[in-house]
Amino acid sequence: MGITLSPRLQVCCGLVAPGERVADVGCDHGYLSIHLLQTGTASYVYAGDVNEGPLQSAVRNAAKYGVSNKIQFFLSDGLKGFPRDFDTLVCAGMGADTIMSILQNAPWLKSSQYRLILQCQSRTPYLRKYLSDNDFRIYEEAVVRDGRFLYTVMEAGYRPGFALTPAECHFPPALLENPSTELPAYYRQVLSRLQRAVDGQAEHADAEKVRILQELKLLAQQPELSFLKEEQG
Ligand SMILES: C[S@@+](CC[C@H](N)C(=O)[O-])C[C@H]1O[C@@H](n2cnc3c(N)ncnc32)[C@H](O)[C@@H]1O
Repeated sequence: MGITLSPRLQVCCGLVAPGERVADVGCDHGYLSIHLLQTGTASYVYAGDVNEGPLQSAVRNAAKYGVSNKIQFFLSDGLKGFPRDFDTLVCAGMGADTIMSILQNAPWLKSSQYRLILQCQSRTPYLRKYLSDNDFRIYEEAVVRDGRFLYTVMEAGYRPGFALTPAECHFPPALLENPSTELPAYYRQVLSRLQRAVDGQAEHADAEKVRILQELKLLAQQPELSFLKEEQG
C-alpha cells in the first residue's frame, strides 16, 4: 500500500538523493517522510512538527504504512532537539517567515554537509533574499502546479559567493536553467504581483519595485527567453 503524494510533495521527494538521511520539519501527516522510506529513497528520517496533533497523525501513519523502524519523531519548533547527522532538510508547505526562522535557529546548517529542499507557500522572494544574504546558494528551482496554485521547490546549500540581485529574488536564474511548462505562467504571476504592488502604491511608488518590474519585463524580450511570454495550452 503506497501513499499518493500531491505534485508539490512529489517534486520535493524527487530532489532527495538515494540513501540520504532526511530531516522533515513540519511533517504534519508524515506523507513525505513515509513515501521516501517506502520507495527506499531515504535510508532514515527524522520527522518533526511543532504541533502534537499533526505529529501524532504522522506516528500513526508511519505504523500503518510499515516504516516505523526507520523514522524517529520530534515534537519540536524547527530543528530544536534534532540530531544533526542527516544529509538533507526538507521544509515544505510553510510560509517564508516560518522557514526563515527555522533556518535562523539552526546556524549549524551553514555547512556544505547539508542540502536544503524548501517549498515555500508565501512571500517566496523574501526567502530567496534570506538565503542569498546568508550565503546559501539556490542550486535548482522548479515550478510546480498543485491545483489552482503555482509553487516553486528549491534545492539550496551553503555556498558563499552567489548573491542574488533584488530582481533575481523574485525570479531566480535557477528557474531558467531547468524550465518547466509552468514557468511562463509563474513568470506572468511574478510580474502581475509586482505590477499590483506598484499600482497600489501609485502615490508613493516604491522605486525599487518599479525597477525590478522593468528589469524582469526585459527578460522576455531576450530572444532565447521569449518562451516566457507564451501561454501554455
Ligand atoms: C501546511 S503543513 C505542511 C505539511 C507538509 N510538510 C506538506 O508540505 O504537506 C505545515 C506544518 O508545519 C508545522 N509547523 C509550523 N511551524 C513549524 C515549526 N516552527 N516547526 C515545526 N513544524 C512547524 C505545522 O504544525 C503543520 O503541521
